[in-house]
Amino acid sequence: MRPAAGTRVEVESGTCDGTIDSNHGGFSGTGFCNLTNAVGSAAQVSVTPSSAGSAALTIRYYNGTTTARPKDISVNGTVAAAGHSFASTGTWDAWADYALTVPLNAGANTVRLVSTSADGGPNQEYVQS
Ligand code: GCU
Repeated sequence: MRPAAGTRVEVESGTCDGTIDSNHGGFSGTGFCNLTNAVGSAAQVSVTPSSAGSAALTIRYYNGTTTARPKDISVNGTVAAAGHSFASTGTWDAWADYALTVPLNAGANTVRLVSTSADGGPNQEYVQS
């Protein structure tokens, strides 16, 4: 069952160095970010918590290859997870979630996911806070 949509930020509301695609199943919103297959390609969203403090983020992605696709995850310019390895999800239609805890400010926070391998990152779905 999908989590409540209230605090979910679809990647298509942010920026995507690549294309917003909808040619695989399983996505919410209007699609997902297919990042350019290159080091440095990035998806970025803005999350706004109800209050400042430590918050759990859930990052939903798809990786239909057999090779993990690493990304740096930063919040407001500070790396929170360096080179996190987004493992294979089996097919491009099957998602998995990566959860991490990060410090968030009151108001808008920038969450940036940057590919650190030449394969680019996995397809990116949403960030939930
Ligand atoms: C395939 C797939 C894309 C994916 C790409 C990749 O082309 O259809 O959704 O982004 O592989 O390897 O990144």
